[in-house]
Order: sequence, then structure tokens, then C-alpha cells
Amino acid sequence: AVPVITVDGPSGVGKGTVSRGLAEKLGWHRLDSGALYRILALAAVDAGVSLRDTDAVAALAPKLDIRFTGDHEDNEAIWVDGRNLRDRVRAEATGGLASQIAAAPAVRAALLQRQKDFRVAPGLIGDGRDMGTVVFPDAALKLFLTASAEERARRRLRQLSAAGQSAILEDLSTEISTRDERDRTRSVAPLVPASDAILIDTTFLSPTQVAERIDDLLKD
Ligand code: CDP
Repeated sequence: AVPVITVDGPSGVGKGTVSRGLAEKLGWHRLDSGALYRILALAAVDAGVSLRDTDAVAALAPKLDIRFTGDHEDNEAIWVDGRNLRDRVRAEATGGLASQIAAAPAVRAALLQRQKDFRVAPGLIGDGRDMGTVVFPDAALKLFLTASAEERARRRLRQLSAAGQSAILEDLSTEISTRDERDRTRSVAPLVPASDAILIDTTFLSPTQVAERIDDLLKD
């Protein structure tokens, strides 16, 4: 089977940076699974479908034509039915909408095969919440990143301001804790590490230090 490395963890922990770095280093593809939930939430909003009507939301999933281009955060484009929705997809509010629909079993089921389809040679880095537990349980290496809630809010603030978006630290902090709580306590695919995942607490680590730890793991 095509090898997979999974990178799971809560919001703002740096999964994007880590998984992009790994994909680049190994020359593998990357699946940003959170973006799929974000795109589906936006599609529902645009179609006037209530996010509470999760069967109707799930029914939109197979119809969407989704393509990712650009491998860096700054040149990334997210094409949905031929339009680049990158900024709307990345907006913090969209993360909240995504986490609302992500709690629904019908929605998760509708996106499951789509995620597996990203498993293409020479290999895949899966970035998300349930990559190691549900989508790619046979992954060769499973990483689960953690960091304190305060540090994650600070990282998200830096990331948004680098993208030219303004935000208030306290608001981000509240938004992140609400989302974490919802993701951790939902009945399907709750945010927990796979039993065979390696936990990395990144609170006091720079992106380079995290990458070095992972390099060591890859050597084993
Ligand atoms: O970038 P950030 O970690 O803040 O969010 P994301 O990875 O884009 O995910 C947005 C939301 O989608 C999360 O809060 C989860 O509720 C949901 N999600 C999920 O349930 N399963 C995944 N594999 C990825 C995201």
C-alpha cells in the first residue's frame, strides 16, 4: 500500500507547518482534511442549506469539485468548482462552521472516501483530527501534536496577521476552546490520539525543533 504519515491534533497546534514540511522533504502528497470540512460548510452556506440539516449538508459533498494548488501557505490556492475560495476557507469563522458540521456522522461518512482517494504514490501526509484513528488506521507513522491553548491562540493570531487578517487574541482563545471542546466530545471520531500515535508537545518548541524531532523518528 502507498505509505501514509498522519499528523493529528487540535486547532492552531502547527499541523499545517509540520505536514507541509514533511510533504516537501519526502516529496509526498498532502491531504488538508480540515479544508474539506471548511469547504463543505461554505458550500452549505452558499446553497442556503442549514448547517443543522446535516443530511442535506452531506449530500452536497459528492458534487463539489475540489483542487488544491501551491505547496506553501503564501501561494496556496483552494479551487472549488473553479473558483479560488482560499481566503474564505482559511477565515477563522469558517473553522467554527466546519467543526459544527464535522460532529455529524453523515458528514464524516460523506467525506471519508474522498479523503482516502488522496492516498497516491509515492506517499501521503494526512493532516487533521482523525487521520490516524479513522481515515488511515494503517499509517506507517502517526504523530499527534499538542500545545497549550494560550500558545495555540498566539500562533493562530500570528498566522492570521501574516495573512493580512486582523483578530483579537482573547476572541481567538475563546473560539479555539469552544472548537476543541466540541471536537473532543463529539460522538463520532472525537479528537483523541490513536493508541499507536507518538505525542509531541510543541508548546516550547520552534517549528525547526519540531521538524528535528520528527526527522529523528523517521530515522528509526
Ligand atoms: O486549522 P485548524 O486546525 O484550526 O482547523 P482545521 O484543521 O481546518 O479543521 C476545522 C474543523 O474541521 C475542526 O475544528 C474539526 O471540527 C473539523 N475536522 C475534523 O473533524 N476532522 C478532520 N480530519 C479535520 C477537521
